[in-house]
Amino acid sequence: MAQIVAEEEALAWAAEQVLAGRPVALPTETVYGLAADATSGEAVARIFEAKGRPRFNPLIVHVADMAMARTIGRFDPLSEKLAEAFWPGPLTLVVPLAPASPVHPLVTAGLDTVGLRLPRGFAARLIAETGRPLAAPSANSSGRISATSAAAVAGDLGERVDLIVDGGPTPVGLESTIVKVADGELRLLRPGGIAAEEIEAVAGMKLARGASEKVEAPGMLLSHYAPSARLRVGATSLEPGEALLAFGPTRIAGGGAAVAVANLSLAGDLREAAANLFSMLQQLDRSGATAIAAERVPETGLGEAINDRLRRAAAPRDKLPAGQ
Ligand code: TXA
Ligand code: MG
Repeated sequence: MAQIVAEEEALAWAAEQVLAGRPVALPTETVYGLAADATSGEAVARIFEAKGRPRFNPLIVHVADMAMARTIGRFDPLSEKLAEAFWPGPLTLVVPLAPASPVHPLVTAGLDTVGLRLPRGFAARLIAETGRPLAAPSANSSGRISATSAAAVAGDLGERVDLIVDGGPTPVGLESTIVKVADGELRLLRPGGIAAEEIEAVAGMKLARGASEKVEAPGMLLSHYAPSARLRVGATSLEPGEALLAFGPTRIAGGGAAVAVANLSLAGDLREAAANLFSMLQQLDRSGATAIAAERVPETGLGEAINDRLRRAAAPRDKLPAGQ
């Protein structure tokens, strides 16, 4: 069983684990990550093993500074500008691999591009301490909801990691926004913790959406982030046996009859809703409800990413490949 250690006391042990090629679960500002030395194939293989994740799915590489980022990826002027504006923070930039990139090919699943992110807090300190870029997917087993607390990591991966670094609940609560510059376009590969509008304001251009030629973020498989209970999105009424995931002052009559109720944000604040999303889905999932009825969330700002995760969680599971 994993040991949970407060981040103030965890740096030396976590560094030892990373240098020994073992994954460590740790907090980032977005969600908890399962981090390992991105330069070691064996270490990275242990991440896939612990998550039960399909091999073809590339991992995000976390760096401590721009100098480290440049040894791994090649930055065009727009990517550079976005890194300057949003790093450290919840933005992942997909860029071409640098010629002598130290990152193991297993990390990029054989692609000639790499997803890079400079996180805040403990993760950045650990990278600086070890001098190793960290490959880190979200710390959840394949196809499950991302963990936003150390307890959620323990409940899911507790048997499969030695160390969980506890930094409290993650402030953003949604995974990073992923963008890629290609063919003169700035493409949104995954909505996330930074609203598309904020990125567009800095870039001075609109984000391209929808699938491009190749499947870009393979992790964007439909049935991702799955709770065990069925999920209905955009619910306007409640059926017997259902739990209610409300947003704002609830418009659902008979909300009191729900098996359980959680409100993403009574005040209708999208940031608060993002931070609550995964833990509330888990909470309602544990209530024994047959299904979770989720009220509509506006599609603006962080609402785009919240709705994206809700739609994925609501997608049918049977015929789809496992997520990550
Ligand atoms: O906030 C986050 O991004 C968290 C924290 C731990 O940093 N990490 C995270 O990683 O969400 P993960 O592995 O759960 O999702 C990474 C996504 C996947 O959808 C993957 O397909 C995509 O990034 N990705 C990684 N490298 C890519 C690449 N070179 N090209 C396109 N998509 C890529
Ligand atoms: Mg994930």
